[in-house]
Amino acid sequence: MQEEALRAVVVGAGTMGTTLAKLMAVNGIQVTVVDTNQNVLESSRQRLETHATMTCFATDLKMAEVPDFVIESVTENVEVKQKVVAQIEASVNDTTIIMTNTSGIPIDEIGSTMHVPQRFVGAHFFNPADIVPTVEVVPGSHTDADTVQKTRDWLTRLGKRPAVLKTCVPGFVANRIQHAVMRECLSLLENGVVEAEALDDIVQYSIGVRMALNGPLRQRDLNGLDTHLHIARYLYPDLDASQQPAALLEKYVAEGRLGAKSGRGFYRWSDESLARHQTQERNNLQRIIELAAQDSNGGEP
Ligand SMILES: NC(=O)c1ccc[n+]([C@@H]2O[C@H](COP(=O)([O-])OP(=O)(O)OC[C@H]3O[C@@H](n4cnc5c(N)ncnc54)[C@H](O)[C@@H]3O)[C@@H](O)[C@H]2O)c1
Repeated sequence: MQEEALRAVVVGAGTMGTTLAKLMAVNGIQVTVVDTNQNVLESSRQRLETHATMTCFATDLKMAEVPDFVIESVTENVEVKQKVVAQIEASVNDTTIIMTNTSGIPIDEIGSTMHVPQRFVGAHFFNPADIVPTVEVVPGSHTDADTVQKTRDWLTRLGKRPAVLKTCVPGFVANRIQHAVMRECLSLLENGVVEAEALDDIVQYSIGVRMALNGPLRQRDLNGLDTHLHIARYLYPDLDASQQPAALLEKYVAEGRLGAKSGRGFYRWSDESLARHQTQERNNLQRIIELAAQDSNGGEP
């Protein structure tokens, strides 16, 4: 049976919006990319040049045809997102699924002023959205089951691995884990336990390579839960439990050390070294994903 042609709109043409649009275009979905910033929109158009027949660009949400899906991927700010979601609602009909690509703002907070919050859902993609398989699907308290099912089906059609949360918590699953890890990494740096390069080396070539093939729970099964418990008993009192972001992080950001995009974060970056790394990373990510998918996974749920 031939698949129905779908239309989608991506609002926000930044880092994520552009790779989201690429993902849709390569999967045969006609996509309109909307951004209020002309320069960002132009740069997105250039990056999507090879998909010109499947992509359109606009600075507002006036739509000639009602889309099946709209995903907002604008700046991570609740007021901005609420405004954008209100504009989206005003320009589609009640059957259009509206998604937010927020990294972790609660869905009910973004959707608090919506007229039909039943068709609103979180769809948290990972960067680059056209490559990383997992998408966290996060229902709010008003999201209906049909919206969740249609979102799952759509993501599956895009070749993704939708992972549905049972309930919405700030940061969802991935960012809670990522931030727990980074809180400890920054604490180790601040306390002079290890240099940045050695820390990266330890994590990448021990925990990192194993986790590419096994999630943390399956991996712990393989190691032994009794051993894990013994370590947890003596270690937890010593782990960082700060309620505020690390002073080191505040200092770097205040100094303009924002990471690769500003030329310096934990490391120094030139335009050339960044471009080289990003190209290599895209290729290698694809290879790792293929390897992970080949793994038998082992163990029954
Ligand atoms: N960058 C990541 O790694 C990543 C990963 C997953 C999810 N996210 C989430 O995706 C969203 C976008 O992140 P990003 O990194 O692409 O940000 P970005 O800053 O690169 O892009 C955001 C874009 O939104 C546009 N925008 C702002 N207000 C708008 C409006 N009212 N109408 C239309 N466009 C508007 C801006 O002009 C900008 O181009 C955020 O919610 C972020 O948390 C980011």
